[in-house]
Amino acid sequence: MNTVTDVITQPAFPAITGQRDTMAVTKLDTPLEKTVGNPFVEKPRMTCRDVFVHYGESCAIKDVSIDVAGNEVLAMIGPSGCGKSTFLRCLNRMNDTVSSCRVSGEIRLDDMNIYDASVDVVPLRARVGMVFQKPNPFPKSIYDNIAYGPKIHGLTRNKAELDEVVETSLKKAGLWTEVKDRLAEPGTGLSGGQQQRLCIARAIAVSPEVILMDEPCSALDPIATAKIEELIAELRTQYSIVIVTHAMQQASRVSQRTAYFHLGNLVEVGATEHIFTNPKHRLTEDYITGRFG
Ligand SMILES: Nc1ncnc2c1ncn2[C@@H]1O[C@H](COP(=O)(O)OP(=O)(O)O)[C@@H](O)[C@H]1O
Ligand SMILES: [Mg+2]
Repeated sequence: MNTVTDVITQPAFPAITGQRDTMAVTKLDTPLEKTVGNPFVEKPRMTCRDVFVHYGESCAIKDVSIDVAGNEVLAMIGPSGCGKSTFLRCLNRMNDTVSSCRVSGEIRLDDMNIYDASVDVVPLRARVGMVFQKPNPFPKSIYDNIAYGPKIHGLTRNKAELDEVVETSLKKAGLWTEVKDRLAEPGTGLSGGQQQRLCIARAIAVSPEVILMDEPCSALDPIATAKIEELIAELRTQYSIVIVTHAMQQASRVSQRTAYFHLGNLVEVGATEHIFTNPKHRLTEDYITGRFG
């Protein structure tokens, strides 16, 4: 495991900028709606097919098809407003809370079509958890922040089991040693980075399969960011993680696959190393070399 300082100073892939000369000269300039690279994997946990998202008349996601693999970190990058958050929120039906929003196409978690009328979104959002940009602990104690989910989902039978889930979740989120003597204190009293790890622990407590993270470090300082990045690397051994990030260095450090969005289109998907060193599409290259965005 790298030290915190290593993580901060570690170059992503050999300089994202200044690579133009070594990149293949001819880049694909195919129509936006045709995703280049490979959006599909052999054993997907989630499959998204022909997904469109509209807010009223305006189309925010255009015909996106992509898989999420098990035990991977999939990074979603692209200029502000390109639809990253919108697409991420489709994966656990968080867009249901936006009245003007309509999602079409098919999104499956294993064999379940998550938009099927029979699907209850409450257990779905436990299986596909979410961590937001701004840490949002409940106005409750550290203990109750974690215990809340297992209680409402009926995952524990008694106090001893609940204590166990709280401890395990905080340990998995790398927060236990920092908070074990102050579990009764409010979650909102923690530092920003600790609050974000508390929110990750809260997501973990209900035994998710997939964790969605929307720019989880954008409100954090570099040390707290490095800790979250280390945590993401560890969590990957047990969960699938889909992370939206505007920090390309972060995408290159934490993810195995990267998806590049542009104006609601999924332009390119590939192994992170390839996306950052030799993207196929001209738009991806423009973005990662800093000429667009
Ligand atoms: N609740 C909403 N109502 C209407 N339009 C929205 C809403 N959320 C996002 N949009 C629009 O959808 C597009 C994609 O936004 P978003 O998914 O937030 O992009 P990103 O996360 O890549 O910055 C933008 O044009 C944005 O204005
Ligand atoms: Mg966003």
